Amino acid sequence: MNLTELNRIATAMVAPGKGILAADESSGTIKKRFDAIGVESTETNRRDYREMLFRAKEAMSQYISGVILYDETIWQDAADGTPLIKLIEQSGAIPGIKVDEGTQALPMCPGELVTVGLDKLAERLKRYYERGARFAKWRAVIDIGSGTDGRGIPSMTAISVNAHALARYAALCQAALIVPIVEPEVLMDGDHDIDRCYEVTSRVLNKTFQELRVQRVALEGMVLKPNMVVPGKKCPKQASVEEVAEKTIRLLKACVPAAVPGIAFLSGGQSDEEATAHLNAMHKLGPLPCPLPWGLTFSYGRALQAAPQKAWSGRPENVTAAQNAFSHRARMNGLASKGEWQS
Ligand code: 13P
Repeated sequence: MNLTELNRIATAMVAPGKGILAADESSGTIKKRFDAIGVESTETNRRDYREMLFRAKEAMSQYISGVILYDETIWQDAADGTPLIKLIEQSGAIPGIKVDEGTQALPMCPGELVTVGLDKLAERLKRYYERGARFAKWRAVIDIGSGTDGRGIPSMTAISVNAHALARYAALCQAALIVPIVEPEVLMDGDHDIDRCYEVTSRVLNKTFQELRVQRVALEGMVLKPNMVVPGKKCPKQASVEEVAEKTIRLLKACVPAAVPGIAFLSGGQSDEEATAHLNAMHKLGPLPCPLPWGLTFSYGRALQAAPQKAWSGRPENVTAAQNAFSHRARMNGLASKGEWQS
């Protein structure tokens, strides 16, 4: 394993003023997004849409450090025959690939999920590396709720098996010279309050780093992609931007070792502006006892793409407007990653 190279890539992924575009929606998820804008989810439409994003010069060259691709996209060519992955490389951003294969029901744990995709992962990583991918992503999903058998979720079982899989994936990535994005997402669905999110995320991160250590993953060669500490969407008591920022940073300082080069948040269903405001506020927190030990930025899917998707709506004449909408959100989040955004 070449740790210097892994560390160099991980550090570039969280460079100040830049963040990651998560464009790795599975076929099912992109269909849902396209349904919302009245576009049929054909292979050509998916290609045209993503090509439009990757050719958005301002966003890609100034504010996007890396792009997470879905398997279909990494093998696709642009309309002029240029591989889409080359468009990303030419813009100066680093191509990455989602390698998990989604979730399955976790036996004995009603309502809970485990992420799958470890079988043959070593071979797949080798092919992705040859194609140009330099980082990967694996998402574990942890729900908070009352559960169907009255025991409450998440169970320790769900946290533990998902952390184990994340670490197995991360070790395989590093052996293949690919930087793993480790994404244990605690969902913001439900009516739980912000303190419950804090407590569950704390358990999830602690278990994840325990597994990463056990499986000898080099923390210097990875990026963490966590949720922010927020109340459930249906919680009657929503939190202020400052409270989210303060609790998220307190939690991350307690759980994430300083050896990790960077943290890049998911947006998880927050609105565009909320996701930007929260990241910005974290960088503006009063006088801290010490500076943040890791890079802290965005790895947003919906919070970067909702605006361009709406502007595009599948029409070639809207491409420039959609690229401008994407560049605007990327610029706002780039500013937020330095605490320089203003509402
Ligand atoms: P969202 O920002 O839409 O949550 O997507 C990020 C992501 O990659 C989820 O796995």
